Amino acid sequence: MVQIIQLMDKLTVNFCGVEFKNPLVLPSGIYAAANAYLKAYENGASGITFKSLTVHKREGNPPPRVWKNEYNVINSVGLVNSGIAKGAGEIALFKKDHREIPLIASVYATRFSEFSLMVEKLVPASPDLIELNLSCPNVDDEFGKPLGMEKGAAGKIVGEVKKLSGKIPLLAKLSPNVNDIADIAKSCEGAGADGIVAINTVGPGMMIDIYKKKPVLGTKKGGVSGPGILPVAVRCVYEIFEAVKIPIIGMGGVLKWQDIVEMILAGATLVGVGSATYYKGMKVFDELNAGLTKYLADNSISELDDLIGAAHR
Ligand code: FUM
Repeated sequence: MVQIIQLMDKLTVNFCGVEFKNPLVLPSGIYAAANAYLKAYENGASGITFKSLTVHKREGNPPPRVWKNEYNVINSVGLVNSGIAKGAGEIALFKKDHREIPLIASVYATRFSEFSLMVEKLVPASPDLIELNLSCPNVDDEFGKPLGMEKGAAGKIVGEVKKLSGKIPLLAKLSPNVNDIADIAKSCEGAGADGIVAINTVGPGMMIDIYKKKPVLGTKKGGVSGPGILPVAVRCVYEIFEAVKIPIIGMGGVLKWQDIVEMILAGATLVGVGSATYYKGMKVFDELNAGLTKYLADNSISELDDLIGAAHR
């Protein structure tokens, strides 16, 4: 028992000054209810990201919104959320009741001023970190491309918000659907970002139900996640690691403990596990932590830090 606890201790990670008991976090957009966040934590996630908030409440896109096959998940949720006023209150309450759980708040906007307005409202709720979602692909038809698809705009958002976020570390969540994700990450770092989250979903993509002879999603197209996108995510994390000094939360297609190791070797300090919960349930966090712990022991690696970015050396 003592040995298992010592081994699990090796998984502890410091990310932007916040202690995580292991590198696995729940990304934004996977669940939107406090009981799901708690369940993820109880099953081994070390931190949770709340669903991205927008200025106003959103009902989301027409259903079906999520679909999966054995390789991929496709979603077009459309940022269902209660709006910043109510959402900030929910975050404050969650933080008050669960101080021990590192909490990442997430915001999405289509105007520069909206990002600032929301971050001002979030700061008193005391999330441990704030994620700027610069990359949701599912509301393009309504608003146009997310602001963060271009390095000038991404840097401008980070710079403006940084003046308001105080001591709370600021993360930029980037899209893989760009020519040069590393360049955008660099621009965010230059503007004051404390960390990068990569990647958001790939695409947009489409899946067709061969019996109904129709696209499976209500919006026809949506963001693609799940095991099929892992190599894209690993490549993006690898390129970002080469371009910036700030830490990275790597995510996209992680299903097995081996995928976690790949992400960390590419340069991730924390790893987001989202779609995997649709395949294996919340217990996947414990399963991945156990696999990672055994890999460290089997390969005589004493600290997780020794693995971060090791594929570059
Ligand atoms: O449609 C959605 O709510 C997805 C958001 C995201 O990918 O950031």
